[in-house]
Amino acid sequence: MLNTDLTTNSKLDDIVSSDLLAMKDFIFRNIDDEGIRLASDIISHLVRSGGKKIRPKLIFIICKMLNYSREDRIKVAASVEFIHNATLLHDDVLDESEARHGVKTANKVWGNKSSILVGDLLLTLAFRWLIECGNLNILSILSAASHSLVKGEIKQMTTRFNPYMVRRNYFDIIGKKTASLFSACCEAASVMSGATSDEAERLKNFGFNFGMAFQIIDDTLDYTADQGTSGKQVGKDFFEGKITFPAIVAYEKGSSVEQKFWEKCFSSVGSNFDQALHYINRQNAVQLSIEKARYYVNMALDNISDFSDSLYKTALTDFLNASIARQA
Ligand code: FPP
Ligand code: MG
Repeated sequence: MLNTDLTTNSKLDDIVSSDLLAMKDFIFRNIDDEGIRLASDIISHLVRSGGKKIRPKLIFIICKMLNYSREDRIKVAASVEFIHNATLLHDDVLDESEARHGVKTANKVWGNKSSILVGDLLLTLAFRWLIECGNLNILSILSAASHSLVKGEIKQMTTRFNPYMVRRNYFDIIGKKTASLFSACCEAASVMSGATSDEAERLKNFGFNFGMAFQIIDDTLDYTADQGTSGKQVGKDFFEGKITFPAIVAYEKGSSVEQKFWEKCFSSVGSNFDQALHYINRQNAVQLSIEKARYYVNMALDNISDFSDSLYKTALTDFLNASIARQA
C-alpha cells in the first residue's frame, strides 16, 4: 500500500538517516564474527570513507514510499552495499586506482591480493545475508544484477573500438556495470514491499534510468571535475583509453584531425589530456553529455509519474536530480 504521509520533513537525509545507521550497525555486528583482522580493517576503511550510499538509500526511500518497515530491508540494503563495495575493491585493482572519495584506495593501502580476496569475502557475505532473508525473488534479482556487473566489466575490458558500434557498446556497458544494480535495488525494494508487478516494473525502470544518468555524469566528471572535489584522479578514464560518453561525442563531432586523435586514444591509451580537454570543449561535449544524462533523468521521472504524490516520491525525485547536479 502506498504511503502518502506528507506531514514530516521531506529532506532525504532525515528520511534515510536512521535506516543508514541501522545498516552500519548491522554490518559491524556481523563482520566481527568473521574474526579476520584484514577484512574488518578494509571494511571499516570502506564504510567510513564517505561513499554516497546511493543504493541503500534507494532501497530505504522506496520501502518507505511503499509503506514497508520490516527488518529485512536493513539486511537487503547491507547486502547491496557489500555487493557494491566488492565491485569497487575489484574495480580499483583493475583500474589501478589510487584514490576514491578523497582517500587512498584499499589496493594502495593493503595491496591487490588483499583487495581481491576481501572483495570476494564481501560478495559471499552479501549472498549469505540475502539467503537468510529467505526471499527467492530478491535473491534472484540481486544475483542477476551481480552477473550483469561482471559481464559489463568484461565487455568494457575486451571490446575494441569500432566507430559504428561505439555508442551502442558504451550504453550496453554502463547499463550492465552500473544501471543494473541501481535497477535491482529499486526492484528488490518494490518486491519486498509487496508492490504490484506493474509498480515493481516501473520502479525497476526508474532505477535503470537513474543508473544510466549517474554513470554518464560520473564519466563527464572525469573530464571536468576538480581533483579536490571529486576525490578521484581526474582524467583517469582518458589515460586508460576508456571510451566514455564525452569522448564519444567529441569524436563523432570532431574534424578528421580530431577523429584521428581520438581513434589513437581509444585504440591504446591517451597521453595528451590537455589536447583532449581542448577538443571536448570545442565540441561542447560536456554540455551534450549532461543533456544525455538529463534525457535518462526525464525517463526516470516518467517511470514514477503515476505514483501518488508523497514526501517519499519527492525525496526520490530530489535524489535523482541531485545525482545529476553533483560535483563528486
Ligand atoms: C566502476 O566503473 C565499476 C563498476 C560500476 C563495476 C565494477 C564491476 C566489477 C569490477 C566486476 C566485479 C563484480 C563483482 C560482483 C565482485 P568506473 O571504473 O567507470 O567508475 P569509477 O570512476 O568509480 O572507478
Ligand atoms: Mg574505476
